[in-house]
Amino acid sequence: MTGLSTSSISPLLTAAFVATFAAIATSSFRKWMKSKKPYAYIPGPTPSTVVAHSYAGYLLDLHSPDALPWHFNVPEEYGHVARLKGGLAGADALYITDPAALNAILIRQQAWFPESTEFAGYEETYVLLYSESDAVQRLFGIIHCGDGVASVQGLEHKKQRKYMDALFTANRVSKLTPMFYQVAHQLEDKLKAAVSDTPGKVVDMLDCLTRAALEIIGTAGIGHTFNSFDDKSEAFDEFHGAITSVLPLASRLFLVLPFLESWRKMKPVWLRRTLAYVGTLPWPSARKFRAAVDAMHPVYVNLYKARQRMLEEGGSAALADTAAGGKDLITSMIQANWDADETHKMSEDTVLANMGSIVHGGQETTSSSLARFLTIIAEDQDLQVRLREELRDAKAKKAPGEDLDYTELEKLPLLDAVVREMMRIYSPVTFVWRQTTKDVVVPLTYPIRSIMNGEETKELLIHQGTAVYLGMSAANRSTAIWGADAAQFKPERWLNRTQGESKLPGAYSGMMTFLSGAKVCPGKTFALLEMKLVLAVLLLSFSFEPIPTPIDWRMGITLEPRVRGREKEGAQVPVRVTAL
Ligand code: HEM
Repeated sequence: MTGLSTSSISPLLTAAFVATFAAIATSSFRKWMKSKKPYAYIPGPTPSTVVAHSYAGYLLDLHSPDALPWHFNVPEEYGHVARLKGGLAGADALYITDPAALNAILIRQQAWFPESTEFAGYEETYVLLYSESDAVQRLFGIIHCGDGVASVQGLEHKKQRKYMDALFTANRVSKLTPMFYQVAHQLEDKLKAAVSDTPGKVVDMLDCLTRAALEIIGTAGIGHTFNSFDDKSEAFDEFHGAITSVLPLASRLFLVLPFLESWRKMKPVWLRRTLAYVGTLPWPSARKFRAAVDAMHPVYVNLYKARQRMLEEGGSAALADTAAGGKDLITSMIQANWDADETHKMSEDTVLANMGSIVHGGQETTSSSLARFLTIIAEDQDLQVRLREELRDAKAKKAPGEDLDYTELEKLPLLDAVVREMMRIYSPVTFVWRQTTKDVVVPLTYPIRSIMNGEETKELLIHQGTAVYLGMSAANRSTAIWGADAAQFKPERWLNRTQGESKLPGAYSGMMTFLSGAKVCPGKTFALLEMKLVLAVLLLSFSFEPIPTPIDWRMGITLEPRVRGREKEGAQVPVRVTAL
């Protein structure tokens, strides 16, 4: 019997070894490719610049100040789930506007979709800018100087939201109406004085409405006046400068986040702190960001301490002496916290952070929406006249000088339709982002058609660690969801629409503007009342016409208006105003 010689075994073994190795290598490579590019089958935009291609991937296109058309285009061109190609700085991400997927991410399976590390990346920024310990601080954690509702998740978020939601019930908000009117009439007087000598005078309505929004959130929100209508008010200038710069500055820090990760882990901590301090010096945005946060924090601390002192000295009754008679939101929160048993109490830092959450949440979003609203009715004189008539008819039923109350304002169909359409089509927040903590399958309303083999899938496997961008403004304008005229401003669509008609899971008339789920905006009722009430006061006393130059709305964390060709003058909304 002849056996296989050593020399004949060797090539066979070698071939078997090579074949096995090749099979394992191919399979591993496929797995690696799949793990690197698991979304290669999903259509999506190609990064628009060479830098974007090689380093930042989708980040530049997503965050660019001129990115609004890019966002609106994503679902129209690529579908309601789109792949965002990563660069060297990061993996691929997903851009989602699909109703069923949004419902899963924000509501049904929200436990697996906390805010993403890009958001949490601000932990790193915080450590760099503030040289603190390894404290978990997120974007809003930095802006609000602590962990309030906007920056915490899970059980802690649930606990804080209980306090927050109790402040914003329709019943409570309706009781703030007199405070809102007090500020709205101050604005009316100031504007009358400014335009009385010249009909059609050009006024920067953004400035006026920012003052009004800060004063409303000041008095009704935190029981504090910034004397916002006094041109010489230093309190207003300092706080207003800080609050209006902090969000645009924050949006400029996004692109450096991938670099900051390595800094955060640097040991020893003293070296990191020293580098952080030195690092912010040549970096103007970081320096200004730090100064803005430092300007706001003492206001909250002083207010908090004053309320605590009152409670300690005179109990709850003493709060009646505060600017808003103890009825403002944060005084109610401090009082509820004071009355709570030890296990449910929030720390001083948490209450302070929530003052920041309320002031921030309630300021720029409403003031820029109101300013935008005025540009729309300035362009559409017919709509302006119809709205004024509706308001005059309602006022005619009241005693002379008496304002419309909360319920009466709520019941004006045209005003309601216009505000709804404004909120749908000009959502101040363009997108939010999340990151999966495990592999999750979500259902889809609109199937994905693979660009590799044309196959359709009705479910989406989102791999652990994927950054998921939820395109709120884009979903609000999707033609598949809202019809072929989705991009047009058409208030009439709300006059005939039945509740629940939209496929989207948004908390307000099925639009995504105020989000939904655990992180839904708690200030929705407050914001809608504020907008309707201020518009009612302005429309009854003034008429508005447009200036000839277009105003461009650029994307920051909220939207920022610039007059075309005069961008360097900063954010403004000039409108021609005539007293009636
Ligand atoms: C037109 C006006 C407004 C819009 C469009 C708006 C929109 C939003 C959105 C989209 C979020 C979720 C953000 C995220 O998860 O990343 C949010 C959160 C929040 N908003 Fe508003 N908001 C508005 C007005 C207000 C007002 C007036 C207040 C307070 C008086 C307020 C307070 C808050 C707070 C505290 C949060 C954080 C909630 C949490 O994380 O649990 N917002 N808002």
